[in-house]
Amino acid sequence: MAETKRIAILGGDGIGPEVVAEAEKVLKKTEELFGVQFETEHALFGGVAIDQKGTPLPEETLELCKSADAVLLGAVGGPKWDNNPKELRPETGLLGIRKQLGLFSNIRPAVIFDCLKEASTLKPEVLEGTDLIVVRELTGGIYFGEKFRRDTENGQEAVDTCAYNEKEVERIVRQACEVARKRRKKLTSVDKANVLETSRLWRETVNRIAADYQDVELEHVLVDNCAMQLLRRPASFDVIVTENMFGDILSDEAAMLTGSIGMLASASLGEGSLGLYEPVHGSAPDIAGQGVANPIATILSVALMYKLSFNWQEAGDVIENAVKKVLDAGHRTADIAVDKSKAVGTSKMGDLIVEAMVR
Ligand code: NAI
Ligand code: MG
Repeated sequence: MAETKRIAILGGDGIGPEVVAEAEKVLKKTEELFGVQFETEHALFGGVAIDQKGTPLPEETLELCKSADAVLLGAVGGPKWDNNPKELRPETGLLGIRKQLGLFSNIRPAVIFDCLKEASTLKPEVLEGTDLIVVRELTGGIYFGEKFRRDTENGQEAVDTCAYNEKEVERIVRQACEVARKRRKKLTSVDKANVLETSRLWRETVNRIAADYQDVELEHVLVDNCAMQLLRRPASFDVIVTENMFGDILSDEAAMLTGSIGMLASASLGEGSLGLYEPVHGSAPDIAGQGVANPIATILSVALMYKLSFNWQEAGDVIENAVKKVLDAGHRTADIAVDKSKAVGTSKMGDLIVEAMVR
């Protein structure tokens, strides 16, 4: 990695700052191991920003993120702000930052750590070797299409519209192809082309873009079949690319293969290399302030940052291997522990992973 990377750090609310603090230890250790230097800067975001600045996404936070190479985010939200009007809700900040940074894809890996197979509801032999990524389109489809209600002779009728244009499909498919190229080079495109016109355009576009990636093997799977195959043969998937609503559902399904929300990292990417990295879980108000949250999802999000925004595979692998080593040695936070009395806290888990990081 040649130039100094600038990382914006948004701790957010609840356990957000607790898990982000452990990820920062990992950033420091990377600097030591590789002789690099990160420029890190913290900013207010979410509920804490509402309290101090009167808005979930203050202008200076947005400016910092725009000038950064990557954004590391904890989580936002909590009961304190649940009844606020829309513009004073933490989630409004999340939607705002994604839009302002032009982030149109959400990337969620689901990796089975051998020693955690007991945490899943599926049989260990089905899960064996599972290591997949769901790439979900974030800005189009039925969630964003025109929606309204009208009166009919059968009572009220509600209408949601699903729309996709070629450009929206092209950019996400290209990105998924790039991700696949850095992995096992297998792309599964998921649609409902037997019924939906948007899916037929999706499939045509995928075929056209994939032609530029002859080294990536392509398959098309209908969404209902994909939902089944994820449970039947999860290890056969590498990269799954799909539209917004299908991706919302399939990424949650894939996440649960691993059995634990405290382990799951995510990335949101746009056209350039700037990405936003965060754990899949929320602010967990029920355990905030107790020092028991699992920091692994956030630490693995740093590994994703190295790989996807900094194109720095080696440093990402160092983190992933360290996490694996610590888990193999039997260390667990409470959420993944069978014997909760032996569980380690947030900070201890962070320290153990940092100690296990070697080149
Ligand atoms: P949550 O993910 O915060 O918590 C769900 C359950 O998982 C809780 O029992 C929690 O204690 C546990 N959990 C979550 N992360 C954990 C970790 N790292 N270690 C150990 N246990 C963990 O989801 P919930 O309760 O639905 O939402 C809480 C708040 O978070 C809400 O205000 C919600 O809006 C917000 N939220 C924010 C997200 C974000 O910032 N991207 C995403 C999801 C929810
Ligand atoms: Mg969801």
